[in-house]
Amino acid sequence: MSRNEEYGDLLQQLDAERLPQHIAIIMDGNGRWATRRNLPRTMGHKAGAESLRRATEICREIGVKVLTVYAFSTENWQRPQDEVDFLMKLFAEYLRREIKTMNDNQVRLHILGETAPLPPAVQRELAAALSATAHNDRMILNIAVNYGGRREIAFAMRQMAEAVARGDLSPQDIDEAAVDGFLFTAGQPQPDLLIRPAGELRLSNFLLWQAAYSEFYFSDILWPDFGKRDLLTAVLAYQKRQRRFGKI
Ligand code: IPE
Ligand code: IPE
Ligand code: MG
Repeated sequence: MSRNEEYGDLLQQLDAERLPQHIAIIMDGNGRWATRRNLPRTMGHKAGAESLRRATEICREIGVKVLTVYAFSTENWQRPQDEVDFLMKLFAEYLRREIKTMNDNQVRLHILGETAPLPPAVQRELAAALSATAHNDRMILNIAVNYGGRREIAFAMRQMAEAVARGDLSPQDIDEAAVDGFLFTAGQPQPDLLIRPAGELRLSNFLLWQAAYSEFYFSDILWPDFGKRDLLTAVLAYQKRQRRFGKI
């Protein structure tokens, strides 16, 4: 919760052999966090961005290879225009401010979602951040923005159909691995642990294909309050799970 929270005791309990390679988080509860404080919802989003900074730090510290965060869904365009505008501005600002830290920590930025509909200013910051971090190789930070799992799958199908029409892909070669290759997460490991704070028990169109065998962790803590200790607690819970993948 606090910026300088202690978490050494939790780090000690971690099993380095059983770390999730890929953690995915639905960053939910910003609005409620602000409303409870009699603040405008936008202040919750600002606090949520701070929380993302902490989550990235702790994932990098424990050696997670991929962190995916859901920042803006294909459905979130239906929010009031001023909230959408604020979120877009915040995203652009976040990218600009974080490039240095991402480079210091060898974090490579990657985007899940279609970027063409984003405002031009966001697209400019994005292009800059993507190219500035392209060679970092310790961790990937996937930010899902204008992302929807169903749209991602439809988009992959369209690209596969086009490849078939061009003669570059044979229908017999469309298997699970081939589909993986057409998703925004192509080449990345599947999410091992999917965390949803703020009490809702649903996927809200997040990583529908990739989460097939993810372990889910739900928490009532609102995202701006979700600190390093909470993330480590989720990882410790994950390490107690028995993943069977259909076997006995
Ligand atoms: C998550 O927090 C941020 C986005 C979806 C952009 P919310 O804004 O959904 O917060 P609640 O769920 O209304 O509290
Ligand atoms: C999911 O949260 C999307 C993001 C966190 C970006 P929402 O707040 O949009 O989800 P619902 O509407 O509660 O399902
Ligand atoms: Mg929400």
